[in-house]
Parts: sequence; structure tokens; C-alpha cells
Amino acid sequence: MKKIAIVCSVLLSHLIVAQVPVYKNKTAPVEKRISDLLSKMTIEEKILQLNQYTFGINNNPNNIGPEVKGLPAGIGSLIYFSADPVLRNTIQKKAMEETRLGIPILFGFDVIHGFRTVYPISIAQACSWNPELVKLNCSEAARESVLSGVDWTFSPMIDVARDPRWGRVSEGYGEDPYVNAVFGVASVKGYQGKKLSDPFSIAACLKHFVGYGMSEGGRDYRFSDVSAQSLWETYLPPYQACIDAGAATVMSGFNDISGVPATANHYTLTEILKKRWKFNGFVVSDWNAVKQLVWQGVAKDEKEAGQKAFMAGVEMDMKDNIYFEHFAALIAEKKIPMSAINDAVSRVLRVKFNLGLFDNPYTEIVEEQSRYLQARSKELATNLAEESMVLLKNKSNTLPFNSNVKKIALIGPMAKDKENIIGAWSFNGKSKDAESLFEGIQKEFKNVTINYAVGCDFDGTNESGFAEAVAKAKESDIIVLCLGEKKTWSGENASRSTIALPEIQEKLVEELKKTGKPIVLVLSNGRPLELVRLEPLVDAIVEIWQPGVAGGTPLAGILSGRINPSAKLAITFPLTTGQIPTYYSIRQSARPFDKQGDYQDISTEPLYWFGHGLSYTKYDYSPIKLSATKINKNQKIMVEVSVANTGKVDGKETVFWYVSDPVASISRPIKELKFFEKKEIKSGKKIIYTFQIEPMRDLSFTDAIGKRLFESGDFYLYVNDQKVKFEVTE
Ligand code: NOJ
Repeated sequence: MKKIAIVCSVLLSHLIVAQVPVYKNKTAPVEKRISDLLSKMTIEEKILQLNQYTFGINNNPNNIGPEVKGLPAGIGSLIYFSADPVLRNTIQKKAMEETRLGIPILFGFDVIHGFRTVYPISIAQACSWNPELVKLNCSEAARESVLSGVDWTFSPMIDVARDPRWGRVSEGYGEDPYVNAVFGVASVKGYQGKKLSDPFSIAACLKHFVGYGMSEGGRDYRFSDVSAQSLWETYLPPYQACIDAGAATVMSGFNDISGVPATANHYTLTEILKKRWKFNGFVVSDWNAVKQLVWQGVAKDEKEAGQKAFMAGVEMDMKDNIYFEHFAALIAEKKIPMSAINDAVSRVLRVKFNLGLFDNPYTEIVEEQSRYLQARSKELATNLAEESMVLLKNKSNTLPFNSNVKKIALIGPMAKDKENIIGAWSFNGKSKDAESLFEGIQKEFKNVTINYAVGCDFDGTNESGFAEAVAKAKESDIIVLCLGEKKTWSGENASRSTIALPEIQEKLVEELKKTGKPIVLVLSNGRPLELVRLEPLVDAIVEIWQPGVAGGTPLAGILSGRINPSAKLAITFPLTTGQIPTYYSIRQSARPFDKQGDYQDISTEPLYWFGHGLSYTKYDYSPIKLSATKINKNQKIMVEVSVANTGKVDGKETVFWYVSDPVASISRPIKELKFFEKKEIKSGKKIIYTFQIEPMRDLSFTDAIGKRLFESGDFYLYVNDQKVKFEVTE
């Protein structure tokens, strides 16, 4: 009797297990779950997975929104313009319970430099040379995102950018491919955590694949004439590094890559990304980028645009609804094979399974006070702001202030601003959360009189505030002048024909200069600025970028000396707009002597090079030591330099290791950054920095089809102002 009961219960449990489809079985391998689900899906269900919709301003939880209204809840993804986890769960519930198969929606959003805790903009983050800190802020941003209902961020942007007229230089990590790779990887690791299914991980999205930073003349959405050599050498490497680091998704760019738009580019999206790099996540188009193929002149209508984008390798259509509208017909007409649809759907499902969405589709509801702006995230925002503010000029040690400074004239439209300092792409950031520069300075300098005047607006012609500003300056010992750009001057569709500040701001500097008081110029902006006229008028310059919610205290700390600045530029500041493009890794001129080929009317030197940044201490570099000066290509050279802090204050110094290859079959840049490292050095101490030269990694280069070449010969290593030669044989 007992035996029969046992047999029955075993049979029953097998029956129950058999009833749970494999795709719902948490313990089944992801690839098995994908193929099981795929085998159960109709064509319509598959097509829906390849669409991403937005929803409008619509708080009715039963109605996903105007653009989604009437569509089945089985859509692949939503751009989640809300921070409400309850609404997300309501929408998700429709997908889970009212669709045949219960496939969760993937909620994506632009979490670019923080969610509610807004961190410094990406270009500022790169100037910290502290990828570990960047990783931490991304992981905090991921936590706030998850708690708000977001599973997927459209970040990082790793477009190498060398034209500061382009508004989007603020969103990336500057002019160098290696730096974009390092910070891109740090942010992918921060967002995605140890594994995507961890409770506070979100999926990253590398954008904008590829060459978007080359937009002609810095104008957005334009043609980008990217040679095959520069594609492989400059624009692809950050993407490859981030794919290797496990980035889950990629976004195709708006740009037209030398005649084939990025969103219809089979070579970049399929040949390179999927075949060569074995990327197994999915590609989402940028907003409207599928439709834009018509405007870009490669598709006759939306249907053809959809076909071209998809067949090139774009699996998900952001917002255009073109895949949804036309794919059934395109499949029926055999213009899109089912095998391609199945592959694309598998890729989307893979990200969803990896995120754990099938097993945990809902967001845990945590009260708002515990969701955002926690002590840890605010501390990270402060630390990152401290480490990303660059001291560009400090004539006669104007900074830090000495005890003679009893009255500060705090002037300028940025001084009390809380709107613009948080920067572009900060949708959920609130100006009420931000600390103004004024507030930070007031807190820091308790026994100093602060004489505030706005002076002028960011732009326009109203000079009526000048007189008050001058009067306040005359009553004070020093002027702290806070100028810069509005946040809307950076980001998408924010190209500028000149990178100078508007005339009104420059005039204010001229007026204040007449008072004879020392001027500390504090700049908050999203791009390198043309400072050729302002630099000679001021005694010190602190570039604070758009620091996010915690800019005031770090700036005040730099002014007082509580903080020793340690940031250095990740992008060159040209002398004038006409010097663009100016970047450190240029190729040698055919006549690199006697100023030949240089501009004859101005200096060819930029105002501040990539890597420039001052500190309050002095670092002395010992001669570089090499473990060998001649090796073969499979050997390595250990190099070291010791750096002594010979000043009176502790500091953090970043050492940059560059190499050059003076003779090669494809000419090489005059120098290329291969490694950097930032370390704290206490006053009076020294620290050894090391780097290992691995010829196949550091001295090889790519050709125009992505093949790596190594050519033996002489090379140079550069550190600080030193240059040493070494030889590598076959
Ligand atoms: C357009 C932008 O180019 C892209 O960076 C962003 O992620 C999407 N819109 C979604 O907002």
C-alpha cells in the first residue's frame, strides 16, 4: 500500500514538472528556455518582441499610454518615462497575466550620469582618471533605477569625440579610444554588477554604434566620413572592449557612416559586432533611426527602412513602430527570413532571461526616502565631483585662498544656479536636490563675507547687472566668477558654431578685471571652451564641468585647500574654435618643423592639452627604469617610475604611459596612451608606478580591415616629460 502511494506521488510530481514549460523553469539553462519559448511563439508574438514603445504623460495605470494604447501588452520593451515602480508593476502585470505566454516587458531608460542622484557628466568622470569610482557610481545609479522600475539603461556612450562643437562630447569619455574603453568597461561593470540577474543590476547599452562622434562639423545627426582605418583604430576599440566585458546591448547611431547609415550598416552591425566579436545580445535602433533611413536616402519608404535596418542587424526598433507595422508583410513576401526573426527574438529574450525578468518580473516597492539620494550615493557624487574638477590655471598660487581672504565677491549666473549644474540628460534629477556653488562656498567659508551678485545672464545683452558686480568686487579681496553653459547647450541636438562663452559673459570678465582684484574663474560647461580672451584676464581657472547634485562642497574645498585638485583633462581645450579638431594623438605632419603647415595667424598649440591639470603640490618623477631595452615580440618589458610628492600637501597623481612607433607601414599617431594609473601620494613620500609593455598588445596596430599587425623596430615610451627608446625584434 505504502509503495503504491510513493509511486503515485513521484508520478504526480513528474506530471507537475512536465506541466511547467521549460521556459518557465528557473533552473533550466537559459539557451534551453529560449528555444522552448521560441517554439511556442506565433509570428505576431515574435514581432512584438522586436518593438520598443514609449509611453506619454499618462498616469492611468490601465492605459499604458497613447502610443501603446490598443496594442497588446506583449511588446518587447518600453522606454519608461516614469520613476514610479507601482506603475511599472501594473504595466508588467498586463504582460505577465494578459498575454498568452507571459513574456515580461523590458523597461529601458536614459540613465546617463545617475538616476535621481545625479553625478558629474561623463566627460567630467573621465577627467577623474578613477574608473573604480565611476564603476561605483554606475552601480548606485543601477540601484536607483531598479527601484524605480528600470531594467536597462541606454548608457554608456563611448563615442570618441574630438569636435567640441558637438553637444554630445559631454556624454562620453573624451578624445581617446583607450580612455573611452576603460571608462566604458567600468560603467558596464557598474551597471551590470557581477551578473545581470543580481537584484540591483541593470543591462547596459553601448552607444552609438559607431562613428557618431565624427559627425561632420560637430553638427548632430550628420554624415560621418569615417575611413576604414579610423573606424578600426579609433571608433571601434571602445566597443570591442565593452563587448568583451559583457555589455548586454548596443544602440545603433544616427550617423551615416561614409554612405551607409549606422542603422543600416551590415558591416558594422553584423560582420563586426556579431560575427567577429561574437556579440550575443541585441541591437536597438536609436530613436527614430529606422525611419530616418528614408531621410538619409537609403530607403524608399518606412517598410524598406525597416527591412534594411533589421537585415543589417538591428533587432529592436526604438519607438518607430515600423517593425510592428511591416514585418508580417515582409516575412510573407520572403524579404525577411524566419531564421533572422528567430535569431533576433532569441537575442531579446536572452537579455530578459539573463536579467532574471521571467523569474522576477516585478519591482520591489521601497519607500521613496530609501530609494534615492542615500548617504552612500551622495558621498560618491561628492567624491567624483572632487576628483573631476580640473585646476586649469593657478597664477602665483592664487589658490587655495590664504588667510588674507576675508571677503569673497561671488559673481556670475552659475553661482546660485541649481538647474544647469546638474547637466544634460538628467531627467529624474531635481534642481532642489542640487547644492549650488554659492551654498557650498558659504558652508566652507564660515568666517568670510560673501558678496554675491549675478552680474549677467548666461546669454543675451543685458548689462544692467555689471555695476553691482563691479561694486561687490571692489569691496572684496578676491573675485570668484562662476560662468559657463546652460545644460541645454550640451547633449543631443546641441551643436554650437563656436565654443566660446557668449559675449555677455566675456564682457563681465573684462569689467571685473578693471577692478584690479584677483579673479578665480569657475567654469561649468559640457564641452571644452574657447578661453583665448578670458585666460589672460584671470588668475586661476577651475573647470568644474556639470558636477551634478554635489558640486558646491567640492568646489569650495578646492578654493579653501581642503581638497587638493587631482583631475586632468580627458579632452583637449583648443585655443580657438578654428583650431578644431585638436587632439593629442594626431599624426605627424609632412613638415613637422619651422611652423610649416601650422596656422600662420595663431599658435597651433591648444590652450590646454589632454592630460593637463594642476595640483597644490609638486610631483617629481624619477628617470624611467626599463627591465630591458631590447626584447623580442613575445617578451615583456617592465617599466617603472617613482613619483615623489615634494610639496606640503597630500595629493593624487595620475601617471600616463604613452608609446610611439616612429616607422610603420601604416603611419602611427605621434603618441598613444596605453595605460594610466592614479594613486595617492602623501606629502614627503614617493610611490612607484609600473607598467608592463606587452608588444603584441601595446605596440601592434590594426589595419583598415581590423587585422592586427606587429612590426619590429624602435619604439618610444613617454612618461610626463621623459622619452626613452627601446627595441623590439621579431
Ligand atoms: C536619442 C539619443 O541619441 C540616445 O542617446 C538616447 O538613448 C535615445 N534618444 C533614447 O532617449
